[in-house]
Formats: sequence, structure tokens, C-alpha cells
Amino acid sequence: MCAGPVREWVDLGRQPVSNAFLKPEEVDSETFFRLAVGICADCTMVQQLEPMPTDNMFRADYPYRSSTSAGLRSHFEEVARQLRDTELTGVDDLVVEIGSNDGIMLHTLSAAGVRHLGVDPSAGAAAAAVARGVRVRVDFFDERSATEILATDGPAKVIFSANTVSHVADIDTVFRGVDRLLTPDGIFVFEDRYVSDIVEYAYFDQIYDEHFYLFAVRSVDAMVARLGFELVDVERIPIHGGSVRYTVARPGSRERRPSVARMVEEEARYGIGEHETYLRFGRQIERIRTDLVALLTDLRDAGRRVVGYGATSKSATVTNYCGIGPDLVPFICDTTPEKQGRLSPGAHIPVRPYAAFSDPYPDYALLLAWNHAEEIMAKERQFVEQGGRWILYVPHVRIV
Ligand code: TMP
Repeated sequence: MCAGPVREWVDLGRQPVSNAFLKPEEVDSETFFRLAVGICADCTMVQQLEPMPTDNMFRADYPYRSSTSAGLRSHFEEVARQLRDTELTGVDDLVVEIGSNDGIMLHTLSAAGVRHLGVDPSAGAAAAAVARGVRVRVDFFDERSATEILATDGPAKVIFSANTVSHVADIDTVFRGVDRLLTPDGIFVFEDRYVSDIVEYAYFDQIYDEHFYLFAVRSVDAMVARLGFELVDVERIPIHGGSVRYTVARPGSRERRPSVARMVEEEARYGIGEHETYLRFGRQIERIRTDLVALLTDLRDAGRRVVGYGATSKSATVTNYCGIGPDLVPFICDTTPEKQGRLSPGAHIPVRPYAAFSDPYPDYALLLAWNHAEEIMAKERQFVEQGGRWILYVPHVRIV
């Protein structure tokens, strides 16, 4: 947590562990917490007020697999190529990835013969990465594990992380690990969802247990300075509805690009950090809840079949915040074998294999994986050709 005064911004109520897809016998022992975020008056860091303990979330059976999305696969292949061409140019340079999941980024570097190590606490995801030729240490990345990696592998020229740094409430220990492991001229590059996009497009379901922090450039700039580093570059990337790639280095070791000041100014103009911005967001998501429940209820009462598409982590937030259960959405189809045959967290909607979507097609599909909308809609043309319609709910509820 940042050290400043944090004021509550939004309360999304009682929520489960977003990736804890349940076997029927586990329903009674489910863990819940209050999902509420606040904003720091000093540094604008948006953060959870009552965090879920990390080891409840990232267990050996953590089911999320990044490589289920073709869009993410090509994004991370490009990231790997860029790192290899611009930073990992020495024969012995080491790259370490924090939260390497199923090796979606590192497998490209591994195939190119680059010295690498993934660090990920989820044994299942790590096994999938190892099967693709990626070296993985099943562990959390912190000062302790970084010290051990330094002893076995030497310093890292690049430390990379995507959608993971923001998951760690005790972020100081991640940066102490980076400090241990990074070469004097090395860079720590991380990508994460962008709070400006979340606020602008009412992406309230990007708020769930794993996303302890929602980063803005200003808040990351302040955070890394407090932890002894410098934010030297930022770049907007079109991942997960809008993300930012942050490049961090040891102070003075790299030139600070104008992009940092430019985005900090844009955030100030947009009102990141101002209370009214968050009040507006709160009103918008209440409207979404009312409209979505009304639409699903009307469709059910009219005898229409509605199916959920994509048992995403964020679907835990939308289903539990809106009170959507199997009476309104009888099942969610998903391509991840680890989620199939289970019940969705909190809402207890059955998760069925992808094949269930077209057997037969429903009248409406609630697109819970809206962050992959382009890819999914392109793949599911036949659904629409047969008269099917998509239901989208951010930034507002609509049928397309
Ligand atoms: P994410 O939003 O956290 O990336 O999760 C995406 C989920 O959606 C994951 O469980 C896989 C699922 N999915 C499908 O079922 N079909 C698809 O075509 C895509 C892209 C994702």
C-alpha cells in the first residue's frame, strides 16, 4: 500500500476469490471478502481497502491460462521480439519474468536461445510453460526469491511482468527483489490495466481481488520513486481494454522520455485523482447494474436463451455485484479445461466447454470476455448469422 491518506471510492460488495471455480462440494466453504477500492489523496494510487490474502488467490490449481487468447499470444510474441532486439543483445543476458503463467511470452525467447527464467507461484501454469521449453521457478517473486535467483543465475538485464505487479499489495518487496536482481543498466518493464480507461469506459469489472492496485502513470511514477527507481518511459497498449507499459530503471541510468510528463499532464486534465471523477463512475456502474438485470430478466421472462461467453476473472465482479445467477444466465461457456465442469465463484453459474455454445446457439450471449471482443466476434460470425445477438454491458448495456 502507498503511505498516503486513502479515501474510499467504490464498494462492489461481498465478492469471492475471482478465479476459484468450484467443485459442487466446495460451495459451502467458499471464501468471500468486501471488494472496495480507495484513492490516495497524495499520489492518486487506486488500491483495495480490504485485500484478499495472496495465497488464497494464486494456488497450485490457479486456472487462468494467458494463451487461450490468440490476441494475447501475438501481443506477447511481439513483446519478446522487441526485448530481444533492443535489450537482450548480449550473448549471456538474462531475462526474468514475474508471473510467467503458461510461458506465453518467454517461450519465444526460449526458442531464440535467450537465457531466461519465469517466476510464478501457480504450479499448474508453470507445468504448461515447462512443457513449452520455458524454465520456471514455482514461487512468488520477492526479495527472498530474487536473492536466490541472483545466486544461481546472476543478475538480470531485463525483468518483465504483465498484469502481475498490481496484484501484490506488498509491492515494496517486489521492488526490493528487482533492486537485488537487476543489472546497473537493466530495465524493469511491466504492463498493467490503465485506471484512466477503467474510469472512462466504466470497466468496473476490472476491479476484482487480484487487481490490488489500479495504476495511473502519476501513481506509478510516485511509487517507483519512493522505492528507489525512476519511471523512464510509458506507452499505451490496447490490451485488456486499455493498458500501459511502464519502463523503470535505476535513477539516472536511462534518459527519461517525454511520454511520462505528457501522460501525467493528460491524467490531471482528465481528473484522475479528483473526487467528482469517481462519483461519476459510481453513478455509471449503478446504472449498468440496473439495466443489465432488467434486460436479462426481460429476456428470461420472454423465454429467450441467454448464455455467458468467457468465464473471465472479471465475470465474478459483474455477476456478484449485479446478483446474476443461473436463473438469468444458465451457463457460461469457456475454452479453459481447468474451469469446465466447475461453478463460477459466488454466483455458482455452471461453466461448460466451448462446444456447448453452438449446441444449439443461444438467442443471446452475454460477452463476459469483452476484453477479447474483436477476436471472439470474428470467430463467432455464424452465431450472429443464425440470428444470435451479443449483450455488452460496458460502458453501458446494449445489444449488438
Ligand atoms: P481474461 O479476460 O482474464 O483474459 O480471461 C479470458 C477467459 O475467456 C478465459 O477463461 C478464456 C476465455 N475465452 C474463451 O472462452 N474463448 C475465447 O475465444 C477467448 C479469447 C477467451
